[in-house]
Amino acid sequence: MIRSAKLKDIDRLLEIEQDCFRTDQLSRRNFHYLLTKANAQTIVDEVNGAIRGYAMLLFRRGTATARLYSFATATKFRRQGVAIKLLTTVEEKAKACHCLLLRLETRSDNLPMQQLVTENGYKKLGVVADYYQDAMDAIRFEKCLVAEE
Ligand SMILES: CC(C)(COP(=O)(O)OP(=O)(O)OC[C@H]1O[C@@H](n2cnc3c(N)ncnc32)[C@H](O)[C@@H]1OP(=O)(O)O)[C@@H](O)C(=O)NCCC(=O)NCCS
Repeated sequence: MIRSAKLKDIDRLLEIEQDCFRTDQLSRRNFHYLLTKANAQTIVDEVNGAIRGYAMLLFRRGTATARLYSFATATKFRRQGVAIKLLTTVEEKAKACHCLLLRLETRSDNLPMQQLVTENGYKKLGVVADYYQDAMDAIRFEKCLVAEE
């Protein structure tokens, strides 16, 4: 089941951060702010009480571009279609908020994420040097959420 993240999910979201990211992990304080005050939407995939993955979208007033700010599937639930389900849902949510584009960055060594997004209609916009805490470059991708004529 996909549902909106709640404050009570933060402990599990922190476990997923530790499981999934070596650098640039979101902290408890980050999650608290992002779930309560930010112009953001966070969804989780939950099955039998277990949160398998999550996705966080950020919006900026005055632009029609949403940003996929954080995205992960816990290791033990990978390759079961969790990410594709989360990605499809955040795209629908961005469209429902009148966004035309969805943008994201991923590490240049993150081949699973690059594979996932290129297979789902995202185009490479460019490389952002020295983007992550360990100085790894990011690849920026964008998808047009409306049918192009
Ligand atoms: C990238 C990630 C989100 C994929 O999650 P997932 O739930 O395992 O992905 P899915 O099962 O929905 O797979 C969807 C597609 O993604 C691609 N993919 C996923 N894992 C892959 C892998 N290890 N190698 C190559 N392609 C992969 C494939 O195209 C796959 O489709 P397929 O199964 O038909 O081949 C997951 O590996 C992850 O959380 N990694 C660590 C955190 C991270 O990198 N987050 C993204 C930050 S930008």
